[in-house]
Amino acid sequence: MILRIILAALSVACIFVQQVAASNTSLGGGSQDIVTWDKHSIMVRGQRVMFFSGEFHPFRLPAPGLWLDVLQKVKAMGFNGVSFYVNWALLEGKEGDFSAEGVFALEPFFEAAKTAGIYLLARPGPYINAEVSGGGFPGWLARLPTGLRTRNSTYMDATEKYVSSIGTIIAKAQITNGGPVILVQPENEYSSGDPPFPDPVYFRAVEQQYRDAGIVVPFISNDNSPHGFFYDQGPPEWPIYGHDSYPMGFNDDISEWPVDALPTNYGDLHEEMAPNTPYSVIECQGGSWDPWGGYGYNKTAARQGPEYQRVFFKNFYSFGVTIFNVYMGVGGTNWGNMGYPEGYTSYDYGAPITEMRTVERENFSELKLQAMFLQSSPAYATAIPQNNTHANGSYTGNMKIATTALFGNETNFFVLRHADYTETSTEKYHITLPTSKGNITIPQLGGSLSLVGRDSKFHVTDYDVGGINLLYSTAEIFTWRKFGNRRVLVVYGGPGETNELGIQGGGTPHILEGDQHSIKFDQKQGSTILQYTVSDQRIIVELSNGLYVYLLDRFSAYNYWSTDLSSDPVSENYTNTTTFLSTPIIKAGYLIRDMKATDNTLHLMGDFNSTTEIEIIGAESDIKSLIVNNAPTEFQQDSHGVVKATVVFKGPDFSLPDLSKTGWKVLDALPEIQKDYDDSRWTKASLSNSNNTERNLSTPMSLYASDYGFHSGYLIYRTSFTSNGGESLHLETQGGSAYGHSIWLNEIFVGSFSGDITAYSWNQTFNLPAENGETYTITILIDQMGYEENGSAGSSDMKTPRGILNYSLSGFNQSDLSWKITGNLGGESFRDRTRGPLNEGGLFAERQGYHLPGAPISSWKDSKLGPMEGLSGPGVAFYATTFKLDIPTGYDIPISLSFANSTDTTSSIRCQVYVNGYQFGKWIHNIGPQDIFPVPEGIWDYHGENYLAVSLWALEKGGGKVENLNLVAGPVIQSSYPRPIEMSPISQWHKRDGAY
Ligand code: GAL
Repeated sequence: MILRIILAALSVACIFVQQVAASNTSLGGGSQDIVTWDKHSIMVRGQRVMFFSGEFHPFRLPAPGLWLDVLQKVKAMGFNGVSFYVNWALLEGKEGDFSAEGVFALEPFFEAAKTAGIYLLARPGPYINAEVSGGGFPGWLARLPTGLRTRNSTYMDATEKYVSSIGTIIAKAQITNGGPVILVQPENEYSSGDPPFPDPVYFRAVEQQYRDAGIVVPFISNDNSPHGFFYDQGPPEWPIYGHDSYPMGFNDDISEWPVDALPTNYGDLHEEMAPNTPYSVIECQGGSWDPWGGYGYNKTAARQGPEYQRVFFKNFYSFGVTIFNVYMGVGGTNWGNMGYPEGYTSYDYGAPITEMRTVERENFSELKLQAMFLQSSPAYATAIPQNNTHANGSYTGNMKIATTALFGNETNFFVLRHADYTETSTEKYHITLPTSKGNITIPQLGGSLSLVGRDSKFHVTDYDVGGINLLYSTAEIFTWRKFGNRRVLVVYGGPGETNELGIQGGGTPHILEGDQHSIKFDQKQGSTILQYTVSDQRIIVELSNGLYVYLLDRFSAYNYWSTDLSSDPVSENYTNTTTFLSTPIIKAGYLIRDMKATDNTLHLMGDFNSTTEIEIIGAESDIKSLIVNNAPTEFQQDSHGVVKATVVFKGPDFSLPDLSKTGWKVLDALPEIQKDYDDSRWTKASLSNSNNTERNLSTPMSLYASDYGFHSGYLIYRTSFTSNGGESLHLETQGGSAYGHSIWLNEIFVGSFSGDITAYSWNQTFNLPAENGETYTITILIDQMGYEENGSAGSSDMKTPRGILNYSLSGFNQSDLSWKITGNLGGESFRDRTRGPLNEGGLFAERQGYHLPGAPISSWKDSKLGPMEGLSGPGVAFYATTFKLDIPTGYDIPISLSFANSTDTTSSIRCQVYVNGYQFGKWIHNIGPQDIFPVPEGIWDYHGENYLAVSLWALEKGGGKVENLNLVAGPVIQSSYPRPIEMSPISQWHKRDGAY
């Protein structure tokens, strides 16, 4: 009886738990109240957050010891968020075998984000696009007999292991558990597809998988442009609606801007579509991918440079965007065959923070100005964007200028640009702005304002500077701070521009620094009106209400920093508006990471690339000592409290090994063509059909590499026949953009296709020098460039096969031939668990693991110059060398491998480079454009022995060599980031069982 009562009580308890559980798993994050939203912005613990974020892919920087470095740089840019993808293909290379360890573990990334005070938007897919192989789909998905990204249970079941595993990992790092994750995006650009599309059942099912894994924070979507899919559903049941925007397109070198590319109606669309959620741009173009044979990332960075950022990003701010993610915020590397076929190894993207983690691009500095302004302007988050249908001529009466307004409770923001945003000439204007003192036509002190070509500016009225009313400013605000009774306002403008500010109750101005003649004052509207001409001579004005105004030109403003890494002591929120707006402003140079004041001591952490005069504005009044990067530093403090010091840059003393002197070993890496080569351990191409839903077979057996589990790097095929004399061989292979192939008849070189960026597949017919009665083996080496993306839901694009599509041998039926195939050793049962499923391909040397440190190279032949000696005929050689690095600590010195850009384009050679076993470059000499391959510290051992291996495939009769292979350093930064960097796991070579 008692037992029954207990059981009954338990079952009531269970029902209760189930109900709670049900409400906990309800979609939309209703089961937590830490991250909330209204129509203006998200809030964290009730505090409004402008989520200003940069995209970073930890999997593209396999050096976890550097993640905090990158995140601190994002934070120093004035951002408080990072959005990250997770690449399924790297975590479940074999179906059901999920592993996220070592360089693939996310926990250290979450820790780094917490330390840097960066909120995270997690974007685990399962589909991510992202210019990675298969858009993140593991190769085994190519064998599913169904289109991908649909509700079809075959597809959904295939995603289950990954989503539940990665969902659980991310769930643990949610803010509800003390972690940095505040938003999750399921799927990616679910924006086109086969009917039924858009399929709410499917989208909901993906969401439910994540809810089941414990995700409780709000979901957010990223439509590829504002189509409005599922917008009308909205949270809490559906995601916050967000969209992407790439207005400049890709792979364009033109200095002309595209016409009609500025989206001026997105604000209106948002009001129509999702007015109750914050306006969210989940990917705003912050650079571009670059294809094989492309223009290179410096051009991308220039095209999507500061002018673009000013015009296009400010256009988004004029719509009141408060969730804004720049794609990419940080460049990365497609190491280890992870890229998609259209991209090469570098994924620098022209991003503000480069692949080498430097912050010297102007894109970084311009974004810092923008982010700092918005983070310093709490009124922005709730200001209401005004309809901009009549923007041309509004407020200025000048039809060549468009002004869009955002009205706040008190503060108003006005975004100006050229009506024709592509305009390159300067336009003069006056503007009449509504203020608390009535409409004011500016400038009031004579002259006119000007908008230079391809520019966009914020003007503000009734802007709160810590209790002082800035009646108006046509100069753009970098930031302001309040230190006790003092306020500091830092503004900037373009060189030569006239700007005017009205400071209410400013009283008598006093010029502390700068040219008296370039500034005018008057008193109007109860305010000090201050007009000045922008030059690189800064002007500092002290007003009697305790406000210091710093008047800068934009380029000088780039040198100002103000970072607050501290979380709110009570709420633990990362964005701590109160302390942020009282954090000192620091004029320095390259980078300031953090500043802390304790007991009259200032601790400054910064990176320097030259001797730098620093100023700390807003220090306590009686500073006793200044510690810069742990070194006591002499300083002066003036009567206004400004601390001044010089940080001396001392060039490091180091040298890099000369790769023509380290001594190399060489191995013939194509033993497959030798007469007695034994391929008995190879996979027989025995499948008489394929589930591939992208292409039907043209051969009696499948020769699609994915059907045999080979998904990365080089593929090799072999078949044998007894000749009737002089056969011709017709072949069609496919490897993706810029791929190539070479064919041998026994040891006789038959021919190659050396690649073309537009040729994804290639047909060739060869007359074989075969003699009657002789038995021959045909060996075909194919470069596999990765799988296509699967951008359209329901499609099978990623299954586009790799390998041999079709063949015929004259005098034979297709079925007379049988084939063997190899890719990486083990295929999906890949051997190197440290470097993941894609790092190696099918070369003999890779199958043996000779790219790994500790490989038995002593028995190989000596080669004085290694790949610089090269091959005198077609073939593949594998070179290895070891050398020590001894790089001084205290510096960030990126080290890259540089392949001399030979002018000899007749020889086509393909190299792959491996640093301590990690494949860190695929160089295609005749295609380019990448010649310099950065490798991060942590993959390099900066204080020990390094193993460098290079495969060289010469595709032409004359062979080929690398003209010059070098290690190159730089730029050299004296860095405050703690060193040595923790090494990434470097597992060593062991003799591999079953290797062939
Ligand atoms: C977006 C996509 C990203 C990336 C980007 C282009 O459409 O969501 O994953 O592919 O385009 O770099």
